Amino acid sequence: MASEKHSVAVTCTAPVNIAVIKYWGKRDEKLILPINSSLSVTLHQDQLKTTTTAVISKDFTEDRIWLNGQEEDIGQPRIQACLSQMAVSPSTVRRLARKRRSGEEDLPPLSLSYKVHIASVNNFPTAAGLASSAAGYACLAYALARVYGVEGDLSEVARRGSGSACRSLYGGFVEWQMGERADGKDSVARQVAPESHWPELRVLILVVSAEKKLTGSTAGMQTSVETSPLLRFRAEAVVPARMAEMIRCVKERNFQGFGQLTMKDSNQFHATCLDTFPPISYLNDTSRRIIHLVHRFNAHHGQTKVAYTFDAGPNAVIFTLDDTVAEFVAAVKHCFPPESNKDKFLKGLPVRPAPLSDELRAALGMDPTPGGVKYIIASQVGPGPQMLDQPHAHLLGPDGLPKPEA
Ligand code: DP6
Repeated sequence: MASEKHSVAVTCTAPVNIAVIKYWGKRDEKLILPINSSLSVTLHQDQLKTTTTAVISKDFTEDRIWLNGQEEDIGQPRIQACLSQMAVSPSTVRRLARKRRSGEEDLPPLSLSYKVHIASVNNFPTAAGLASSAAGYACLAYALARVYGVEGDLSEVARRGSGSACRSLYGGFVEWQMGERADGKDSVARQVAPESHWPELRVLILVVSAEKKLTGSTAGMQTSVETSPLLRFRAEAVVPARMAEMIRCVKERNFQGFGQLTMKDSNQFHATCLDTFPPISYLNDTSRRIIHLVHRFNAHHGQTKVAYTFDAGPNAVIFTLDDTVAEFVAAVKHCFPPESNKDKFLKGLPVRPAPLSDELRAALGMDPTPGGVKYIIASQVGPGPQMLDQPHAHLLGPDGLPKPEA
């Protein structure tokens, strides 16, 4: 960047979200409009986050993007869809550009014709098979809006990148209302409760496999919409009542209700995958063992103390309360003894070591499967996207190219 006045740089972070009422199926492939509403929990960025720097400059001759250090094709349709969303409300942009100029008289008009350089990194391995597209596109939408000075709801920008990404625009508990309009203007994400609402809630990610999945969500849900009568029934007859019930459980901090509905909705989503033709299966033997373990654990306690949910892959996401984490982790270690890297089995929030009672061990009644769970990430509910003020946080240097790694 030859002149500071001709460029703006921003760096933002955005969280991963885990759906407890699942989104599966589009009614409009291009606009990414869903066949049902969904609800998610935003995970804390201390454990999982995407960081994105966006720089616009008069001196750039082309748009460019780097993902996890590798330059990628900026022409990818979903990235282009997000970028073009920045141009659809020029009045907002012009108004904000004027406002900015009035504060800094010598700043030349910022223009949407300025090319953008984008760099994005995840603080967790993409290879772990954890959903990274939601955090990635939410972060892209947030960074682009900040760098171009666009205000207002960013649901559409993030959604055009990946449907579930619109739910990563807020912290806490978030619903994506499916909307009714053909143009998708009412298909937006809204916060149901902030991250401070349920401080005892904990999230454990049980990383099962690092293999690349056979069927991606986009292709998978398209085949499901085309072939699964169960998916249609779910969207029309099941989800509306579940959304209302889930929102009630969250507002009342009712873990029994929240946990049971979370498990039922995950199971129904995977049932629609099996009802798809040809069938899709995301769960593996370890996933099914984890399901069994959770139900045995709950039966032993005579109440729902832990709940599982699975997305388009075999990793389990467990919800529980802080007073149950240590005992459940002991049960997981018993059923899936760590094979290698024993000291790295637990990542994220500290978990105090707890013994497994003989009663619980007997109640679980499972033969250990060494190495089934590779590691656990302990996390909690967290806030939405953040803007980082310190210039040293930028992933791109003054020349608009990735900084060499420190
Ligand atoms: C199973 O948002 O990844 O995680 O809109 O095609 O990008 P696209 O799909 P994506 O699908 C997420 C599916 C899910 C459930 C959920 O997060 O609600």
